Amino acid sequence: MRLLIDTDTASDDAVALMMALRDPDVTVEAITLVAGNVPLDRCVQNALYVAELCGYDGPVIAGADAPLMRELGTATEVHGEDGMGDIGLPLTGRTPAAGWGPQAIVDLVRANPGELTLVTLGPLTNLAIALLWAPDIVDLIPRVVCMAGTGLNGPGNVSPSAEFNVWVDPEACRVVLRSGLPLEFVGWDISISSAVVTPERAASIRALDTPFAHLALDVQAVLEVYADTETELDGPDLPDPIAMAHVLDPSAATVKRVHVDVAIGPDPMRGALIVDRYGFTGGTPNLDIVTDYPEDRFFELLAERLG
Ligand code: BDR
Ligand code: CA
Repeated sequence: MRLLIDTDTASDDAVALMMALRDPDVTVEAITLVAGNVPLDRCVQNALYVAELCGYDGPVIAGADAPLMRELGTATEVHGEDGMGDIGLPLTGRTPAAGWGPQAIVDLVRANPGELTLVTLGPLTNLAIALLWAPDIVDLIPRVVCMAGTGLNGPGNVSPSAEFNVWVDPEACRVVLRSGLPLEFVGWDISISSAVVTPERAASIRALDTPFAHLALDVQAVLEVYADTETELDGPDLPDPIAMAHVLDPSAATVKRVHVDVAIGPDPMRGALIVDRYGFTGGTPNLDIVTDYPEDRFFELLAERLG
């Protein structure tokens, strides 16, 4: 499997990146960065740190530093000021590859027609820009998996109605939803139902005793507190890693094909997915939405890749 990964690298993106980079059956053709959880330069440094740890020598390329039409909203209260749990990691001084994220997406897709699976783990800005510039890429990408939204009717994690990646750049999400790409969305609802790192799960991961396993847990330090005080989960949840699990093993997922649009007005509806599960609008289904991913399969895959 050949992947192109677009990410706003922070604590859970880092784990998803390790899952892909450490998979012997996966080639990561490029990692492109988009502003989201933290400002772009921090996302770039975080991705470069993870890439270096995994011995990845492919391109890590900076992309859009702001949403299409809005001020950037970050999630430092969830992931830390540095995005990696504020645990003192050396996250400066590394140099990204030349180029610009959206252009890199266009160039790589055109150079490898029908070959690359595109994975987005952050706001959809880079992909939207690529689509607006080069609509021909729609027919050249066989599969696009996005950690985005909150499922058929799950709760929001940044507002009552919206999930962070869509909320940051809802206009970009609309471009992507209306593009004709073969989309699969894994939402935050799947993360909180099947990817919560409970104390028992954490102990199993810690016992793997590899640098990857330790990093995966350690960078969740701020999220762990947030999960306790805000989202009231039994540990930090891992949305991007469970999206990556679906990339690597889609056979485990249950999906529903639906028509989806996105609200692009102000809060509280900003970034809410409008999922037409009963076909009220008559809109052509444009999305496979993951409605279940088994918790045990997720943690099995995670342990295999971090071990
Ligand atoms: C998504 O938002 C970010 O905080 C995470 O990295 C993930 O991509 C979850 O809503
Ligand atoms: Ca992310």
